[in-house]
Amino acid sequence: MKNSIAICPGSFDPITMGHLDIISRSSPMFDKVIVVVMSNVHKNSGSFNVEERIEMIKKSVAHLPNIEVDYFDGLLADYAAKKNAKAIVKGLRAMSDFEYEFQMALTNKKLNPNVETIFLTTSAENMYLSSSMVKQVASMGGDISDFVPAAIHSDIINRLKGKGR
Ligand code: PNS
Repeated sequence: MKNSIAICPGSFDPITMGHLDIISRSSPMFDKVIVVVMSNVHKNSGSFNVEERIEMIKKSVAHLPNIEVDYFDGLLADYAAKKNAKAIVKGLRAMSDFEYEFQMALTNKKLNPNVETIFLTTSAENMYLSSSMVKQVASMGGDISDFVPAAIHSDIINRLKGKGR
């Protein structure tokens, strides 16, 4: 989908290799990809604040040419309209993601008929990855080097080390 803007939304608490994989694969498909930090009503306030999440995303996508990083405290459908986006890009890890993602995609389509949700299949090596798993492993001193972008590895370790016990 050329000549268009896509949005990669998420909580990114913190960004993982799974997120970076989806963002990297979206990059050549659109003129601009906006990675937007949003809140998820099903999750608590999180471990990292919005500024930290944005900073970690910026460091992780620095090598990609057409990525913008933003924050929005509101509905994704409204943000997509504000940015005149043509697509919302989400990663699907497993069937367990599907029902909830399908529900969100249909709700967003109802609220903003001008935006399509596109699902990219997560790469096999990232199937099991989640931000909460990364935080748990890091806080208990485990090795997260395969789970998060190298540029933010030390940020996460320094912040969460020893918080798990
Ligand atoms: O990384 P996550 O937590 O799976 O991302 C979910 C997120 C933040 C994209 C979703 O909760 C969301 O879109 N939040 C913004 C508020 C909104 O539009 N809610 C209605 C979605 S149907």
